[in-house]
Amino acid sequence: MKWLQTNWVKCLRPPFIQKAYCTHSPCGSKERVFITTPIFYVNAAPHIGHLYTALLADATARFHRLHGKEVVFSTGTDEHGLKIQSSATKVNKTPKLYCDEIAAKFKALFDRTDVSYSHFIRTTDETHVSAVQNFWKILVKNDYIYQGKYEGWYSMADEEFLSEEEVCDQRMETGESQKISVSSGHPVVWVAEENYMFRLTKIKPKLLEWLNTGVIYPREKRSQVDIALRNLQDLSVSRSRSRLSWGIPVPGDSTQTIYVWLDALINYLTVAGYPDHLQHWPADTQIVGQDILKFHTIYWPAFLLAAGLDLPKQIVCHAHWTVDGYKMSKSRGNVVDPQERMNKLTATGFRYFLLRSGTVFTNCNYDDAVAKDIVNAEIVNSYLNMLSRVSSKSINKHTIFPSFNEEDFQTFFTKEERSMFNRLPDLIDICNGYYNGLLCHKVSEAVFEYIRWSNKLFNDHVPWKLCKDPANDRHLHCLLHVTMETLRVCSILLQPLIPHIAGQVLDRLGISKGDRLIKHCLERQLVHRIKDHPLQCQKNHIMQRIK
Ligand code: MSP
Repeated sequence: MKWLQTNWVKCLRPPFIQKAYCTHSPCGSKERVFITTPIFYVNAAPHIGHLYTALLADATARFHRLHGKEVVFSTGTDEHGLKIQSSATKVNKTPKLYCDEIAAKFKALFDRTDVSYSHFIRTTDETHVSAVQNFWKILVKNDYIYQGKYEGWYSMADEEFLSEEEVCDQRMETGESQKISVSSGHPVVWVAEENYMFRLTKIKPKLLEWLNTGVIYPREKRSQVDIALRNLQDLSVSRSRSRLSWGIPVPGDSTQTIYVWLDALINYLTVAGYPDHLQHWPADTQIVGQDILKFHTIYWPAFLLAAGLDLPKQIVCHAHWTVDGYKMSKSRGNVVDPQERMNKLTATGFRYFLLRSGTVFTNCNYDDAVAKDIVNAEIVNSYLNMLSRVSSKSINKHTIFPSFNEEDFQTFFTKEERSMFNRLPDLIDICNGYYNGLLCHKVSEAVFEYIRWSNKLFNDHVPWKLCKDPANDRHLHCLLHVTMETLRVCSILLQPLIPHIAGQVLDRLGISKGDRLIKHCLERQLVHRIKDHPLQCQKNHIMQRIK
């Protein structure tokens, strides 16, 4: 249990962490937090990478709610652009119908995995279209848009303009050479056309000021942005409508379509009520995968600065999921379909696996066998097994959550056991720190150390023998209290990771819905020491072992 003694929480606190413990704004109303995911391209069905971004945001949103905050949590779909236009054409569908179908798949996936978004925005929504056109007019008014000739490389898969340094040659199987994007590996084409340019270079000094405040988390990801900053040029922000018709027209020029990234980034403002009722802005935490960091830390703040709007407080960048060590791609045939996996691992099991294994720092490899073993070992055999042991009628005859008795605790438990139990409040602090750093894998590590400990404690005190003789009742009750209390605190802390199952465990422990906030973790003395309370007994298993 070395981690418990170390001062992890303090050294883990990046700048945005400091706010976590303050649950109310000075005026006394609930503090509001605005968390966003990127909006997802609808050119193909969702895969585990997309789901991970959404789950990480969801766990963060749920954590803030557990601190009593009001959370605005937005996600959605990015529906315009060449990529989507051509995907729809390939399957002989109108772009709108195509988008409707895939957007529904994202929604279904998020609903199945308990992604508790408050807003699901689609860039084809009318409110968004008018927000984008309004924003464009402001950029024109503020003299950030001019007409010019753009010439350069363009990756359709990434909807991204690239400089010479950002592309390289790749030899294809046919022996021919193809230019590709260095970072994504996607093919690029040479584009030369008259369109509208955005004065990105003009905004660079202000951009640097913002970046230097340390808004990117983890900080190490900054170097990636610096490379892009070195090659900064004005940005082409429109395409000829003859090439790209599936997009928002430039106000006052029907021959041009607004660049899909400008359109997409504004989704965050649309959700916040822009232009007429802007209320949640600036966003507190914007979560993105490492492939789209440049767009969120260069283009996005530049657009906002040009429009005279506040900048987001934090951009969190997470690492990627790979399969067999490779990036997922249709051509490699290694795309993991979350819906299919959930049929086997269950939605909760799958959600847990992704959150306890993925990290913001380093890529994580997906493996079916590993996922199954982890769900079985941690959720079924350790966590739920603990619940069934403490609530089994053979041991806990009256199926109660017994009250605490200090004298019995001193009598029947060793110094080490008492000290471990008394350090439960440290676990709360540690998890607060981890959740604030979006380190869900560390939360699960810390909580499961405690769950494993309580399983062992239960065994060590041989309750199946204690329950045979009423003379041992006090010892048995004290053991039940300690293990159940550990389970209660761990369940409260696990809610952001496995809301459904943790909720069911708390139900069975008889903890009312209103007593499940982080602050209630510490209320043992107030609530649970007073009197025994009944468990909610149910015969069925919360979750079966996965075969
Ligand atoms: N539409 C843009 C975002 C616009 S936001 C204004 C986009 N969409 S995406 O569908 O390609 O990606 C959405 C999110 O999924 C991004 O955060 C991206 O990093 C994430 N992932 C896509 N593949 C991933 C993995 N293999 N692993 C983890 N996350 C990955 O980019």
